[in-house]
This record gives sequence, structure tokens and C-alpha cells, in this order.
Amino acid sequence: MSRAETQERGRPPAFSYRPASYRPTGKSAPGAADSLLHCDDVALPRLAERFGTPLYMYSASTIRQRIRAFDRAFGKAPHTVCYSVKANSNLSILRLLAKLGCGFDVVSGGELERVLRVDRRATKKVVFSGVGKTSDEMRMALQAGILLFNVESGSELLALAESATRLKKTARIALRVNPDVPAETHPYISTGLHQHKFGIPIQQARELYARAADNKFLRVSGVSVHIGSQITDMTPFAATMERVADLVRLLRSDGHVIDYVDAGGGLGISYEGWKQNDFAARARKYAQTLLGPLRGLKVHLLLEPGRSIVGPAGALLTRVIYKKSNGGKHFLVVDAAMNDLIRPSLYQAHHEIVPVHASAHPADEIVDVVGPICETGDFFARDRRLPVAEEGDLLAILDAGAYGMVLASNYNTRPRPAEVLVDGKSVKLIRRRETVGDLLGPELEQSRRT
Ligand code: LLP
Repeated sequence: MSRAETQERGRPPAFSYRPASYRPTGKSAPGAADSLLHCDDVALPRLAERFGTPLYMYSASTIRQRIRAFDRAFGKAPHTVCYSVKANSNLSILRLLAKLGCGFDVVSGGELERVLRVDRRATKKVVFSGVGKTSDEMRMALQAGILLFNVESGSELLALAESATRLKKTARIALRVNPDVPAETHPYISTGLHQHKFGIPIQQARELYARAADNKFLRVSGVSVHIGSQITDMTPFAATMERVADLVRLLRSDGHVIDYVDAGGGLGISYEGWKQNDFAARARKYAQTLLGPLRGLKVHLLLEPGRSIVGPAGALLTRVIYKKSNGGKHFLVVDAAMNDLIRPSLYQAHHEIVPVHASAHPADEIVDVVGPICETGDFFARDRRLPVAEEGDLLAILDAGAYGMVLASNYNTRPRPAEVLVDGKSVKLIRRRETVGDLLGPELEQSRRT
């Protein structure tokens, strides 16, 4: 598929193969017929040489195009995209999204602080979700003047009323209702069933709304819902919005003013077959599914996408350290590990792994791609057929822009990777690689004091 064709089909080529005009040094320098994987217009070996590996890379143009496609899908229907900060919270990514007019969905004081750093004015478009907001976090959000608190329990409603009364500030609220709709996704990221910790059972919502309306520092403003993440079938979204629309009608008949419906996030992406993902069409289908049941209600729709915006825009670049075979098994030991990208270990998630240097006629082999961490669960792929790779070769683990770096840890005292933002030909380091000193710092401080 040509570059123009992929763009037309809605998925910009964040990562695409191009002729190997750039010649990296080292034993596996490409031949004339070979091609190299690029992020936007930059050959990945260039990034590896400059910043080292493992390295997170993001394509700014892809993020921009996905936001535009998402926004366009909702067209004239009043809506605000409140990007879900948890998916990728790097300040430069948030700044890019703020410039595109996005609001933000935050779930902690820390995430709110990030938004404040990036653009104070964006707080007017911030929604605050989460089952365990502390009174300190509520105070911070009230002072910042956020758009909406998504309240998840009766106790939280009380705590928010107390904080708001103390500060004499009005909190706009929506109750996050639990619609009891199953979402076909990994059980750890499904949230909309009655046995999950999230939200208020939809049948109990009416009574809590009445309680909220009695407090002069709480302003009932909307209904909120989020049923899970990585949902690729539209049926659960449709069933959820039907229930939400019924609730909006009921609440209005009780005399409440319901201006907003917050539909949450959750739109899934394709982690396999990375070339056949027509995002514009998927976004349109998603928009039709959500807007259908809301027709005639004249609500302002809030959307909290995370993965669908940044997931395919990012990849994790890693280098093969060793090849080894144990019995019949063949392993590629790479320099990235489960501490850098935990999705395969935690959710058995599939990520495509592709060679950076693609030869015209590759031979295949079946391998496990594993990291250096002392756990059998430290793998990126098992029994995967991949083009033969040699020690020193670079591999890219695709679709790692969402829930990659944000979930990285320092397990095995491994400094977290650097992150770069590529925009066309330009490359910006947006987080430097951690050093072991960064990791030991807080511990040394403590031991000095005692
Ligand atoms: N809104 C709320 C209230 C959420 O809890 C989430 C995600 C989102 C929006 C964004 O959902 P998205 O559009 O990204 O699906 N670590 C897991 C995903 C956890 C999702 C948690 N909540 C993973 O790597 O698959």
C-alpha cells in the first residue's frame, strides 16, 4: 500500500518501511534492495544511535490525525474530546493534544497537575473520574475549576459536598453509573458489570441524584458511564447508551438539569494486522452508535478516548542482545523488558513485533521474544513466527503508545526508557532516559536522615 493510500484509509503511516537510504553502522547494514522502518520521516536506526534503546517513539502527525478523525466523526453534535491522560501522560503529548483543543479526563491529583502544567485554561474542559478521590484531590480540582466530577459512590458524594462547602465553591457533578452491560474485553479492563468496583448501580442513581440536588454546593449536571477498555464490538456501547438515555429522561422528569452525557472511553484498536486499520471509519461507526440513542435529548457529549488516540502512534524500539536455544525453543533476548511494557505479561496482550531492517526475502523462524528480567512472565511474544533476527538487530514493538510508558516500572532496578516525539523530519526528546542515580536518589536521602 502506498503512503497516499494508507492515509486515505484513515491510518497514517506512523511506522512504515522506506528504502534504506540511511545506512546505519554495524554488522547488519542493509543492502540496496532492503528497507528500513521509519517513524514519520525518520529512520529508526538513527533514533537508536542518538538516544539508545529501549526507546519509546511517538508520531505527532498520527496523534493529530487520529484526534481530527475522532472529532470529525462526531461532526456537528455538541461534544468535547477529553483525552484520557492515563493512556499516555507525557507532558509534550498532553501539550500537543491541548493545542488541538482537547480537554482531559484525569483520575488523580498527579494527572490534574500535569494538565495544569501544560495549559491552565484546559482545566475548564477537565473531567475527574476514579473510585477513590481523596479530599486533597477534590480540593485541588475545585480550586482549579474543572468542568465535571464523575462521582462513583454515596460516600464520595458526601466527601465532595464537604470539600465544596468548605471552599464555598460549586462542584458540577455527574454520577458514574454502572449499566451492568458486559464488554467483550480482557476481564481486568472490563468495568461495566455489577460485580466491578466502578460506578453506582443504575437503579440506585435516582435516589443519589435527589440527595445531590439538595446540597447548594453541588450542581447536578450530567450522567457519566465507562464500561471498559479495548472494546472492538459496538453492541455493548449501544446497550449502554440506551440505558443512559433512559436515565437522562427519568432524571429530567424529576426536575434535574442534565446538560452533559460523559460516554467514557474504551474504543478498541486493532493490535494485529497493523495495516488494515481504517480509523476514520471506525470512529464514524462509534459516533453513530453513541449518538443514536441520544437523539433528541440535546445533551453535550463528553468523550474520554485514550488508547484509540495514542496507541497506534507509538512503538517501543529494542535491540536483540542474545539469541539462545533451550531444547527446541528459540529465544531472542532483547534489551526491553516487562518493566518497560507490561501489557503482554499482564493481559496476555498481542503486540506486533517487526524488524527495523527488512530484507527483501526474509527467512522465518519461530521464537519467543523475551526480556532480561528474572521472571518467566517477562515476554513480548511466545512462539511467534518472525523474520530471522541476529544479535544486535533492532526490533519495533508496535501499538505501544497507550498504556506503555505510563505502566513502566523500575523492577530489577531498571531505569525507564527515554521517549521521543517525531513530527515529520523533526525529533524531540520528550523524556530523558532515567539513570540508576535517579532511582537510588530517594532511598539515599532517607538513609542519610536516619
Ligand atoms: N475513562 C475512564 C473512566 C477509564 O477508566 C479509562 C480507562 C478511559 C476513559 C480510557 O479508556 P481507553 O479509551 O484508553 O480504552 N492498562 C490497560 C487499560 C486500562 C484502562 C483503564 N481505564 C491496557 O493496557 O489495556
